[in-house]
Amino acid sequence: MSIWTPPVITAIASSDYPADNTLFSTLTLPLDTASAENRWQLERLSGVLSIQSPEGLTQSVDFVGGKSRHRSREAGHGAAPLKKALGISTFEKRHARKPRIIDATGGWGQDAWLMALMECEVTLIEKNPIVHALLADALARAKLDGQCSDVARRISLHNDDACNLLAQLSADVIYLDPMYPHRARKKADSKKSMQILQSLLGPVDDILSRHLLEAAIKNGATRIVVKRPKGATVLEPMSTFSGQLIDIQSPNTRYDVYLKHTD
Ligand SMILES: C[S@@+](CC[C@H](N)C(=O)[O-])C[C@H]1O[C@@H](n2cnc3c(N)ncnc32)[C@H](O)[C@@H]1O
Repeated sequence: MSIWTPPVITAIASSDYPADNTLFSTLTLPLDTASAENRWQLERLSGVLSIQSPEGLTQSVDFVGGKSRHRSREAGHGAAPLKKALGISTFEKRHARKPRIIDATGGWGQDAWLMALMECEVTLIEKNPIVHALLADALARAKLDGQCSDVARRISLHNDDACNLLAQLSADVIYLDPMYPHRARKKADSKKSMQILQSLLGPVDDILSRHLLEAAIKNGATRIVVKRPKGATVLEPMSTFSGQLIDIQSPNTRYDVYLKHTD
């Protein structure tokens, strides 16, 4: 069995974007001034911070452009199972406000953006510094966009391990979308965005996800939502969970909702 090592990512410095030098030095990446093929690179392309893999895949996060505009419409339609899993309508009826959500597994921020479109305040946590940098760049650009700035301002982003941060933060709902080990085995079938994520993060196992669920259960939030692929096993907490577990199904995804008893 080969041992996984994180990819070495070269940052491409450009005199057009001097502010990026601070980011690149914080990330302690090797620097170059020109792009090259067949290596990992972090580079600003047409104003957008982007990561490129040696295979030529490019990934950035964009909350302003085409796909995200489509997802804005989804917030009212296709995102209904997510909205139900988060319990937004029920919470709003009871408390006359939207729930505050911690999305503890940031990734490419697509789910967090939907939650912010649903007018929820979202604390977004991402532990991988490169993924975090791409998210931060997308949020900064969205905050400058007339149509997106209100949504972007509902999201506060942290670069940390959520297992630590969940002990300090409070929320009404905690949302977890951990990498699922089976997805890694289907590398050839998986989407470009997921392939890049798998390469940046390395192998995943459910034990780490179970620790994350445990940290969520120890937090004061009464509702925890875990996104799983359809047909995947239910994520077991590390200790006994005495609350109620329900699931919300959508075509490719299942949301397991852990409801804690409140006295
Ligand atoms: C499947 S992706 C999430 C995708 C995301 N829901 C979206 O809509 O784009 C999982 C992400 O969670 C992050 N993650 C996993 N465990 C974490 C932890 N303990 N703390 C913070 N981030 C974590 C990984 O680095 C990865 O970027």
